[in-house]
Amino acid sequence: MATIIAIDGPSGAGKGTISRALAAKLGFKYLDSGALYRLVGLAAKRHSVDLANHIDVSALAAHMDIDFRTTKDGSLSVFLESEDVTQELRTEETGALASQVASHKPVRAALLARQRLFATAEGLVADGRDMGTVVFPQAQLKIYLTASIEERAQRRYKELLAKGENVNLPALEEQVRSRDERDMSRDASPLIPAEDAIELDTSELSIQEVMDTVLNLVYIKGLAN
Ligand code: C5P
Repeated sequence: MATIIAIDGPSGAGKGTISRALAAKLGFKYLDSGALYRLVGLAAKRHSVDLANHIDVSALAAHMDIDFRTTKDGSLSVFLESEDVTQELRTEETGALASQVASHKPVRAALLARQRLFATAEGLVADGRDMGTVVFPQAQLKIYLTASIEERAQRRYKELLAKGENVNLPALEEQVRSRDERDMSRDASPLIPAEDAIELDTSELSIQEVMDTVLNLVYIKGLAN
């Protein structure tokens, strides 16, 4: 059985950074499941599909032409219909589209099979909201990363400032709050820790400290040498 490490939690908790570094360290594949929901949102926008139209949005989720490529420097580029959409995928606007399409059950069902294809013999680090609860309930290690809303908004603020974007901290806090609310209160796969997940609050921890804690768990579970 493929080794799977599921890393779930709200946006801004550090899942992406930790999951990518962990996959690189262990030589495992990496699944950024949020990117799949973002791609559905973006594809719907580009094809002028109404987000409330569950049938058409789920058809896009099942059939959209996407590709994940690892560049020479190890970073991940994402393509939609052969166009590099890596930057556009990360905007707050695309995140909001993603969280709207993510509440549709048929969209989640269409993406389920696509996500499971990432689990191969080389091992997988899967990052998302329902990796440990729905997509990979058999994962050998499940981690639920959290951080306070203030800290997550602060991290996003620094990230956007560094990119030279014009940002407003209270507005970011509000966005984080409303995305949490939508992700946690939806009927379809709401964001909740799996019963057997290990919860880790990263508010006061550096990336290195989180990484050390997670790696320690990987070794304790005997998932790598
Ligand atoms: O992780 P990321 O911020 O890229 O995810 C974007 C949105 O996609 C989330 O706010 C959530 O609504 C949705 N999502 C999800 N299930 C996942 C991953 C992401 O519902 N496994």
